[in-house]
Amino acid sequence: MRQWDCFLEPYKQAVDELKVKLKGLRAQYDLEDVHRPVEFVTGRVKPLASIYDKTLEKGIPFEPSAELAAELPDIAGLRMMCQFVDDIETVVETLRQRKDIEVVEERNYIANTKPSGYRSYHMIIKYPVQTIHGEKTILAEIQIRTLAMNFWASIEHSLNYKYKGALPEEIHHRLIRAAEAAFRLDEEMSLIRNEIQDAQQYFSAHKETSKRNYNQSGGHKE
Ligand code: GTP
Ligand code: MG
Repeated sequence: MRQWDCFLEPYKQAVDELKVKLKGLRAQYDLEDVHRPVEFVTGRVKPLASIYDKTLEKGIPFEPSAELAAELPDIAGLRMMCQFVDDIETVVETLRQRKDIEVVEERNYIANTKPSGYRSYHMIIKYPVQTIHGEKTILAEIQIRTLAMNFWASIEHSLNYKYKGALPEEIHHRLIRAAEAAFRLDEEMSLIRNEIQDAQQYFSAHKETSKRNYNQSGGHKE
């Protein structure tokens, strides 16, 4: 067990650091008063039980090794959720430009929707972690998707988990329809994007004014 802990430690570190960095993008966009292409960011280290399942699937030994690290590029996983499909390209380009990560692979499951109905943009990156034994470069997977894509993927994932991958025909059928509905939702939102953005800007400007008025009225005491 200690060996696994040592093996996974740099991945934990990477997920923690990348969460801070990728969430930091949001704050930067907010300061510039432009539409923020990232709504929220999550991250996790793949649980040992899932690593085990994956080694069985891939037919590789379940041991903390370089082979395992190379075969499972998503031990460290990050997700970035966007409001609009167009935001995804903005985020992808921002990630490509970063000096602290190296993109080694990209998979566009938006242009190439999976047969399951799954849509997302995947990037596999190399990320250097500073350890007490020097620098260790690990692989991490960043999934970039809209809120609608994320909603669908999380539901599909739990259903597949529940039915151990063998979905009843009826549910499978409904999931395909739900994927189509999520796709249409993204399309509709893109069409009214300008309207939505005006409304959101109006809302945050209004919030600022209320806050100022409140503070000026002496409501804010420090
Ligand atoms: P696995 O799909 O994990 O075996 O890895 P892979 O090498 O085939 O890579 P792929 O890019 O297909 O998938 C990587 C990750 O994307 C998965 O671990 C999931 O998080 C997500 N993913 C891929 N396909 C699906 C899908 O059909 N449904 C859901 N919910 N997630 C998916
Ligand atoms: Mg796959």
